[in-house]
Amino acid sequence: MRIGTLGAGQIATAVARHALRHGHDVVLSNSRGPRALAELALELGAKAGTREEAAAGDLVLLAVPWPEIPDAVRGLGPFDGRIVMDATNQFEATGPKPRIADLGDLTGSEYVASLLPGARVVKVFNTVYGRYIEADPRHDAGRQVLFLAGDDADAVEAVRALVEQFGFAAVPIGDLRNGGRLMQLGGPLSALHLLKQD
Ligand SMILES: NC(=O)c1ccc[n+]([C@@H]2O[C@H](COP(=O)([O-])OP(=O)(O)OC[C@H]3O[C@@H](n4cnc5c(N)ncnc54)[C@H](OP(=O)(O)O)[C@@H]3O)[C@@H](O)[C@H]2O)c1
Repeated sequence: MRIGTLGAGQIATAVARHALRHGHDVVLSNSRGPRALAELALELGAKAGTREEAAAGDLVLLAVPWPEIPDAVRGLGPFDGRIVMDATNQFEATGPKPRIADLGDLTGSEYVASLLPGARVVKVFNTVYGRYIEADPRHDAGRQVLFLAGDDADAVEAVRALVEQFGFAAVPIGDLRNGGRLMQLGGPLSALHLLKQD
């Protein structure tokens, strides 16, 4: 598959490494354009692209800081049913005084989906610290669990199969409203690191 990333930081790089290791093509993008990513792309064996090129992938990973989401997705789409993996956490501010965005009744991924016309959004990767996404998910005691939530069963299945290929133990837990709420910041699955024995 061709996987595009919006953002090329810790999470996108970690996911790109897994994807490249398993024979997928990866297009990385950021706000500064392909030139700024040339060195990283070369090191990984990925392609540096524009946001538009990344968004044209079979699967698109959204991995930018929360306040940047509107800029990162501006003008992209319609996605025509393509899948967007939403790895974001709704930190309005990070650092010593972190602030969580108040979206009222909406979950973070429902908000993200509202900005991505025609996309099938699957929430994934956000519950786990970056270092556990970078690491080999297969440990002696079991495989690193990744929770998934999405409204479209086929999209969830496609992402489940991808992260299982990477070596994670995928655990789908429902739709963006209910599963997304469990997975997002403040939810019981946020920063819950589990290993699954096979
Ligand atoms: N790190 C973790 O442990 C972790 C774990 C789970 C989930 N998350 C979530 O995953 C997301 C990404 O985290 P991260 O740690 O990978 O962040 P990061 O290392 O700071 O990387 C962010 C990336 O987004 C790019 N970016 C910023 N503004 C952009 C825009 N307007 N358009 C396109 N690209 C833009 C940045 O590049 P430029 O500034 O050069 O554009 C950078 O490549 C966040 O929402 C975070 O909360 C993080």
